[in-house]
Amino acid sequence: MIAILDFGGQTCHLIGRRLRELGVKHVFVEPEFATDDVHMKKISGHHLMELDGIILSGGPSSVYEAGAPTVDVSIFSLNIPVLGICYGQQLMSHLLGGVVAPGAKKEYGPATITVKNPSMLLEKTSAEFTVWMSHGDEVKKIPAGFTTCAVTETIPHAVMADEKRKMYGIQFHPELIHTQFGLQILENFASICGLTINRHAIDEAHVESIVEIVKDSIPRGRAVCALSGGVDSSVAALLVHRAIGHRLTCIYVDSGLMRKGETDELRLIFKEHLHMNIRIVNARRLFVSRLKGIIDPEKKRKVIGRAFIDVLQAEAKKIDADYLVQGTIYPDVIESAGTKHSKNIKSHHNVGGLPKSLKLTLVEPLRDYYKNDVREIGNVLGLPESIVQRKPFPGPGLGIRIIGEVTEPKLKILREADAIVREELEREKSTIWQISVVFTGIKTTGVRGDNRAYGETIGIRAVEAVDAMSAHPSPIPHELLRKISSRIVNEVPSVNRVVYDITDKPPATIEWE
Ligand code: XMP
Repeated sequence: MIAILDFGGQTCHLIGRRLRELGVKHVFVEPEFATDDVHMKKISGHHLMELDGIILSGGPSSVYEAGAPTVDVSIFSLNIPVLGICYGQQLMSHLLGGVVAPGAKKEYGPATITVKNPSMLLEKTSAEFTVWMSHGDEVKKIPAGFTTCAVTETIPHAVMADEKRKMYGIQFHPELIHTQFGLQILENFASICGLTINRHAIDEAHVESIVEIVKDSIPRGRAVCALSGGVDSSVAALLVHRAIGHRLTCIYVDSGLMRKGETDELRLIFKEHLHMNIRIVNARRLFVSRLKGIIDPEKKRKVIGRAFIDVLQAEAKKIDADYLVQGTIYPDVIESAGTKHSKNIKSHHNVGGLPKSLKLTLVEPLRDYYKNDVREIGNVLGLPESIVQRKPFPGPGLGIRIIGEVTEPKLKILREADAIVREELEREKSTIWQISVVFTGIKTTGVRGDNRAYGETIGIRAVEAVDAMSAHPSPIPHELLRKISSRIVNEVPSVNRVVYDITDKPPATIEWE
């Protein structure tokens, strides 16, 4: 068992998450109580558990400030390995006779570590690697008995170690996914503590632990969740449903911009099968009327986003909700924190863009997880494959797949054409990364029977990608494309031409708008 002394760092909980991934038991301890608990080599509430190691977490304070959190220096003489992370390293240095002072400048983000001396903590890493920093102060002089093991361009003691006493300090955050070898470093520390590592995937116990956290975050009152049918919001909703049952109301805004059959499928899965409390709000008229006359894609996104918020806000009020459940996942967190202007694509879709006037407390149970993890959690929770494996679909839905003004007749045509494309690809068990069907707004001449026809052109875009940053057109077999085309022009009377988009991203984006 490893005790994590929590000094208030933003990513402190992630240290626990990573240890859990390694199959290492841990407990969070308030530093003020650490001496009593830790001194006995036992953790209060876990009296049968012997303590094997201590991690001092990061935190926002400066060790030399009055009132900065600290620990009794005697915890360093217990003969238990200690790892100090960021503030933890600084505190360790400060208490053991080193010197801590503000760095030349505050540092947030990536830095390159260069290893100068070997350490058990850095086993199975490399001579140089990227780490994630977030600090103002730094260790200027290490305590007696320690060796400097790694530096960065600006930090003289990025990693320090006293191998004899099994004490280590690092300035960067190994718990962050952006730190290369971060998990390896934590694994090395757990091995130094003599613990057996058992890296495991997401299982029932892991999911149960998330449910417990949600229960604690929503002790009473009501929560709402904007359910879109996408994998993130579906898994988040189901987790919260497990935790608080009918105190959660899921709101599905039927904007009319969804694909054919989606609302019914959602109703069937969440209401009939999973017995969740779900309100399906028919807001089709509202969306189409607000989109009237709007041609500019970015304007459309804003209008659609605003309409979603208005409907959600009205519903949340009716329910008298205190909490808002959101399916934010780790890449969303990094993206929105990463660059100032990175939110264009997701701003309206992620409910993170909700106005403060909503006065709801955010609950984001998937904040620490990647898409793959989320799918695994969904599997454990028994969510059907059709949702767990759902392909990406943009928040503004078909609204940005109709070039020009969005109208109900155009939506109808697009929904039909899109359903045919999806049906044919599903039949072939296609693994295409994403497929979009576009109402191009281009009318062309055709011939039906013996008559001249003047009808719509449908565009098909199917892409292969690893993430959405770049994409290549999918090599759909020609025969299949012809079959799809033939079905569309036969089954959707107003369409008389189908085109296939063969452009890479970049320069073309995935969506046409
Ligand atoms: P682009 O078109 O930028 O799309 O190559 C990259 C990925 O993002 C999706 N996308 C959106 N998702 N709101 C969303 O939630 C949007 O406004 C939006 N625009 C594009 C797109 O489907 C693809 O997966």
